[in-house]
Amino acid sequence: MPARLEIDGGVPLRGSVRVSAAKNAALPALAASLLTAEPVRLTNVPDLVDVRTMVRLVETLGATIRREHGELAAQVARVTNDVAPYDLVSTMRASVLVLGPLVARHGSARVALPGGCAIGVRPIDQHLKGLARLGAEIAIENGYVVARASRLKAARIATDLVTVTGTENLMMAAALAEGTTVIENAAREPEVVDLATLLTAMGARIRGAGTPRVEIEGVSELAGTSHRIIPDRIEAGTLIVAGAITGGDVTVTDLVPDHLSALMAKLGECGVALEVGPTSVRVRGPGRPRAADVTTSPFPGFPTDMQAQVMTLLGLADGQSRVTETIFENRFMHVAELARMGARIETDGAIAVIRGVSCYQGAPVMASDLRASAALVLAGLAAHGRTTVSRVYHLDRGYEGLETKLTALGARIERRA
Ligand code: EPU
Repeated sequence: MPARLEIDGGVPLRGSVRVSAAKNAALPALAASLLTAEPVRLTNVPDLVDVRTMVRLVETLGATIRREHGELAAQVARVTNDVAPYDLVSTMRASVLVLGPLVARHGSARVALPGGCAIGVRPIDQHLKGLARLGAEIAIENGYVVARASRLKAARIATDLVTVTGTENLMMAAALAEGTTVIENAAREPEVVDLATLLTAMGARIRGAGTPRVEIEGVSELAGTSHRIIPDRIEAGTLIVAGAITGGDVTVTDLVPDHLSALMAKLGECGVALEVGPTSVRVRGPGRPRAADVTTSPFPGFPTDMQAQVMTLLGLADGQSRVTETIFENRFMHVAELARMGARIETDGAIAVIRGVSCYQGAPVMASDLRASAALVLAGLAAHGRTTVSRVYHLDRGYEGLETKLTALGARIERRA
């Protein structure tokens, strides 16, 4: 039987907890190692299932990887294989991040098309359109994207929608293209900026990362470097909500407050007391949160990756809240599970209406994806009685040692095989 978490709820969390590095910054950083023959040393790398999957993928493409205590050195002296196979891509969609680097450095890539996943259809058409604009020949053959180019040529690319990994893929490809590429409508997420910082340290010339217009002046070669991955803003946010939902007093450290502005503004509206330091946030839970309306949007808007966790908090609010999910079409999988714990939530397409209840009851629940699992853990921490969250392998993809961190804050939570 896959592992599950047993949580005896009702303990206000107290103490201090350190945030790990960002999964969604570590994954593109590993893909970027494909762009140079020299070693790329990454520090502060989180030990997560998704990171191990990406390590395996770049290894199959020719990388030699050494890993020691949160540090990872990747060297791709030569790309020895251009195939990202279906078994890896279907377990982790972010595998598609090797597409841009492979075409740019090696001149060809064969990457399995990811297909849909638990939270939505998630096509990669914008990645492919952008690469075609850079001169790659793109074909779909037997479920694989086959991309070829002798040398990519700069272009002006305006994506039809804001895409995080799409922007990252195109930035990496353009870094080795001939001429100056402009990406309009670029994603502004901190993970995009972190990748630009890494690429710049490798010798790339990038302006405007963090704005909707990114300019990349291509160079013929990139070099090795050393880079520290940024803190995980979604893990930080999840821990802050854990403090709030248990009515605790928790200081979350090693984070970047500017990456959490939209979340903190919303929690403020809910009556959660936050004290913001230069690299930490102290959270004290309100007696009972106030209701609030939330609409997800690309950064700097409210992150879709915090939607499930904040909905869990709103489920206990005094009054009626409304959550609108604009990024993914199927990201309310946690609603039916929260209902099993006593939440009163109705969904209609992209909108969830939440009528707050005064408490959750412990129940067996099932995780459907990474952030939904985190939401169920939060509900379990707040609930009366025992909650068993099954399928926690979803959680292990993106939260480093979550139950160890929560235990240190006083939570009664245990993993059972
Ligand atoms: N989209 C398209 N065509 C494309 C690309 C995207 O239609 O070519 C659509 C998607 O289907 C979605 C929207 O555009 O409706 C935004 O998707 P985006 O491409 O920005 O998502 P992503 O890059 O695949 C990253 C994170 C996700 C996070 C989203 C949104 C990584 C590795 N993943 O995904 O993280 O939810 O951005 O912020 O960076 C998670 O960590 O749990 C997670 C799902």
